Amino acid sequence: MHPDFWHQRWQQNQIGFHQHTPTPLLQKHWPALGVPAGTRVFVPLCGKSLDMVWLAAQGHRVLGVELSQLAVEQFFTEHGLQPVIHDSPLGRHHVAGNIEIICGDAFGLDAGLLAGCSAVYDRAALVALPPAMRQRYAGELHARLPSGCRGLLITLEYPQQDRDGPPFSVSEDEVRALYADAWSVDLLERRAIPAGHPGFVNGASRLETAVFRLHRQ
Ligand SMILES: C[S@@+](CC[C@H](N)C(=O)[O-])C[C@H]1O[C@@H](n2cnc3c(N)ncnc32)[C@H](O)[C@@H]1O
Repeated sequence: MHPDFWHQRWQQNQIGFHQHTPTPLLQKHWPALGVPAGTRVFVPLCGKSLDMVWLAAQGHRVLGVELSQLAVEQFFTEHGLQPVIHDSPLGRHHVAGNIEIICGDAFGLDAGLLAGCSAVYDRAALVALPPAMRQRYAGELHARLPSGCRGLLITLEYPQQDRDGPPFSVSEDEVRALYADAWSVDLLERRAIPAGHPGFVNGASRLETAVFRLHRQ
């Protein structure tokens, strides 16, 4: 998607993807990954997700990246945090405690920064991207994460002909193909999301969410 699409969504407060509590599937599956406290967790396309607060509360250092300055400002304001701000070629860095959010383009992050992230968490990031960008996301961006990096990927699946994305439907086969080169991929859970559930995608005739464990070889 063009950056303007997302800027407009934030300006118009069309952020139906935002959840007011941490993602239950994160809380359920993260502990079994055994990611040590203190590990830096990369949260691409982070929005103002409360999942970052939950990860920080587990003792992790969080590195989010988000295009929208509005989203970043809302995150810190809504949590009563006053970030220290500095600029770099990667974007505008906002740091408060063990949470850092870069306001910038995730695809512009360099290998030096991402090499320090031994864990990754993706909810509503891969599925926010159209097919060609998903290739770049896995093949270029995730390729900058270090060997041994592990994390969770949460996807959505529905008949794509039902509606246009985002969010896009991303099948298990596609996830396996995207990450096959360098990552082991394990399906941890698949569950149906019923119509009427807050996480339901309008226009979809049926919807499932899937959780994958990723481990970079
Ligand atoms: C569907 S939202 C998901 C946000 C968050 N992961 C959550 O669970 O609430 C996707 C977010 O990615 C941001 N985004 C889209 N493309 C981006 C890019 N290239 N770099 C950084 N952020 C991006 C959008 O502004 C939007 O906030």
